[in-house]
Amino acid sequence: MKELSLLSQNMILFVLLSMTASASKLNVPRLRLSYKDLLATNRSSIFSGHHGLLSLTSVFLDEYHDRLFLGGKDVLYSLRLDHTHSDSKEIYWPPLPGNREECVLKGKDPQSECANYVRLLQPYNRTHLLACGTGAFQPMCAFINVGHRGEHVFSMDPTNVENGRGKCPHDPSQPFASTFIGGELYTGLTADFLGRDPVVFRSLGSRSTMRTETDQRLLHDPKFVAAHLIPDNDDHDNDKVYFFFTEKAMEAGDGKGAIHSRIGRVCANDAGGQRVLVNKWSTFIKARLVCSVPGPHGIDTHFDELEDVFLLRTKDEKNPEVYAIFSTISNVFQGFAVCVYRMADIREAFNGPFAHKEGPDYQWAAYEGRVPYPRPGVCPSKITNQPGRQFASTKDFPDSVLQFARSHPLMWRQVYPAMRQPLLVKTNVNYRLRQVVVDRVQAEDGQYDVMFIGTDIGTVLKVIALRSGNSLDTEEVTLEELQIFKVPTPITSLDISVKRQTLYVGSPVGVAQVRLHRCETYGKACAECCLARDPYCAWDGASCTRYTPHSKRRYRRQDILHGNPTLQCIDQNLSVEELDMSEDRVVYGTENNSTFLECVPRSPQATVTWLVQREDRKEEVKTDERVMRTEQGLLFRRLFRQDEGVYVCRSREHGFSQTLARLSLEVLQGETLGELLAREEGGSEFAGKDRGGYKAGPPLPRPQEPRHPRPQPEYCERVWCSDKLRRKHKTMMDKYRLAQESARKARNKASGERNRTPRDTRARE
Ligand SMILES: *[C@@H]1O[C@H](CO)[C@@H](O)[C@H](O)[C@H]1NC(C)=O
Ligand SMILES: *[C@@H]1O[C@H](CO)[C@@H](O)[C@H](O)[C@H]1NC(C)=O
Ligand SMILES: *[C@@H]1O[C@H](CO)[C@@H](O)[C@H](O)[C@H]1NC(C)=O
Ligand SMILES: *[C@@H]1O[C@H](CO)[C@@H](O)[C@H](O)[C@H]1NC(C)=O
Ligand SMILES: *[C@@H]1O[C@H](CO)[C@@H](O)[C@H](O)[C@H]1NC(C)=O
Repeated sequence: MKELSLLSQNMILFVLLSMTASASKLNVPRLRLSYKDLLATNRSSIFSGHHGLLSLTSVFLDEYHDRLFLGGKDVLYSLRLDHTHSDSKEIYWPPLPGNREECVLKGKDPQSECANYVRLLQPYNRTHLLACGTGAFQPMCAFINVGHRGEHVFSMDPTNVENGRGKCPHDPSQPFASTFIGGELYTGLTADFLGRDPVVFRSLGSRSTMRTETDQRLLHDPKFVAAHLIPDNDDHDNDKVYFFFTEKAMEAGDGKGAIHSRIGRVCANDAGGQRVLVNKWSTFIKARLVCSVPGPHGIDTHFDELEDVFLLRTKDEKNPEVYAIFSTISNVFQGFAVCVYRMADIREAFNGPFAHKEGPDYQWAAYEGRVPYPRPGVCPSKITNQPGRQFASTKDFPDSVLQFARSHPLMWRQVYPAMRQPLLVKTNVNYRLRQVVVDRVQAEDGQYDVMFIGTDIGTVLKVIALRSGNSLDTEEVTLEELQIFKVPTPITSLDISVKRQTLYVGSPVGVAQVRLHRCETYGKACAECCLARDPYCAWDGASCTRYTPHSKRRYRRQDILHGNPTLQCIDQNLSVEELDMSEDRVVYGTENNSTFLECVPRSPQATVTWLVQREDRKEEVKTDERVMRTEQGLLFRRLFRQDEGVYVCRSREHGFSQTLARLSLEVLQGETLGELLAREEGGSEFAGKDRGGYKAGPPLPRPQEPRHPRPQPEYCERVWCSDKLRRKHKTMMDKYRLAQESARKARNKASGERNRTPRDTRARE
């Protein structure tokens, strides 16, 4: 049994490997921008709180007030939605008196648990936010006055704090989802101290609170990820609140507690039952969200753990597109997938048959008996409220309906993603995908959904998935990899402001405001702009700039689908010579030692070729055990005299070539650079240490065998990378030549002396 599952896991691994292998080069980001790059170009600015310790736990992007609200450990912040954090305001909000001590007494961790972690920030009305925190395992809520639009007010009345039970989890690390609609708060959480009472809860407002019954058929160890209101049609009586979560799947029937991802929903106007299900949901139903890739023999690989959900809202508010990140993590491998769901497919599953199990010895099947009216999951509305069958409220629903709803919360049909397969799959990456937001961008040749994906190592990937023609397969293009935070830290929130073209990236260490694009980063040539394939950017005849549709400029070059510069930039100074921005440099290496010629293309997707020019011949560099090509350049593990020559590094991408570097390699004999440097530092003393006179020959260098084909950066720094050092070397080389000249003379002199007085032999005796 164990072997079998290991076998199948290996098979899965194999399938995924072969799936991704073909596109391996494309999975490399087109551009990698470091933390420093982002700060230097004003692409990003970071806020880490007033005390350098934010421990961010919630974010609310308020475009009405033009502010970003943050909740952390015992603290709330209000920031402006621009890149200056000059007038950020802070509210200190610790647990209520005595609660911290009580939390510690109950055995919780004083540092990481017994504080007020703000988990909920929702817009309450035009002037106030609702904020809820864990309050050292005693959840509490308060209203925050943020003033009217244009004002900058940020205050809280500390005496006006309410019990937050059901509105916020006790545990700062407990998964949690909430949404605030029409004066009411919907939450999905575990609502007790021990974390054993999972519940979908509605509170605040004038109606009585509503919750799910405590029943594993409804919720079984759920992990809530998101909650959203999505209307069904123009009749707001049919508005539904959807919850996205994972839970243990009873229907999987494998006894191992398989995890499935779910979409569940309730009617916003659910008022519970009259005699049964009093103040409990009578319309709660759920379905499985499937995200899988087909494998051999019809066995699919499932990505079952839901990580994040983003609703791409369009003009049609009833039909947002649901983007979701899934993971599957085992000890054999770790994989991630992004799947997109259509509301039509989701509704179809909810309108389909209910899942049913006749008894313990039966299989799960579609329920084929009579379903009572109004069908469970249907909201009371004009349709259900007809003369003769007046169901104006769920309180009017017959007991048979409520009983059926209670025993059949799961739908038989599953919800499959658009095209029945993931939009993108990532395996064998050394990071995890955590958060996603999507921007629908209008480009010259259509619209593209640009995904911004946050990882657990502080980076954000900007990705598009292209579908060519009628093909089902997608081509994944990672436009940029942005290292948002200096240290690896999990991205815990992503919010996007399309109006401001800005991304707000949250992590425990802080929040970054990041521009969605910086077209000039791609380069100064039409071809480079075109190769970037960024739907936000186009070549305007002079530079790479933000593409805006319907702009007066006729002259825009962009090719997202193919990234083919030869077609787009034919009249745009494409020739290699013009784009030859490389400078000529001299690089010194020591005979028999290792040497490295660096050349990294701007795009990791480009292919690099090395040519060497000696006298009049130019030929491709032959690589072998001794001369190796690496991602960063050309490595000579042991340098020979005949390696001298001019080395030209060329990159090629989508038929577009460019010379990146021209390095003239000189091989030193006799003296090592190290000695040279030492000599430089120690003055011009030449006849130093060896009192027996000059050595007859150079010291025999140990051929250095680097453990990795990648050179040490310090090596690079020291030997030639830094311009300053290189200049220093140049003057040193002149001195060196002179020195060698005098050394030879000195040696001749010494050998003459030796003939007379053989000091060497004497010394040895
Ligand atoms: C970044 O912003 C600062 C202040 O707004 C400005 O002085 C600087 O020139 C900007 N740098 C770049 C590269 O745009
Ligand atoms: C918003 O709600 C708060 C708290 O209930 C209340 O004090 C305030 O007057 C309300 N503001 C508006 C504009 O309704
Ligand atoms: C091409 O380059 C030349 C000189 O480098 C310049 O004069 C010319 O304007 C450029 N043409 C275009 C279309 O950019
Ligand atoms: C490099 O090694 C070769 C063969 O081992 C030797 O003949 C030559 O003298 C060495 N050169 C230097 C500068 O040590
Ligand atoms: C080889 O190069 C390394 C790095 O510059 C240097 O530390 C080492 O001394 C050199 N070895 C010889 C024998 O020249």
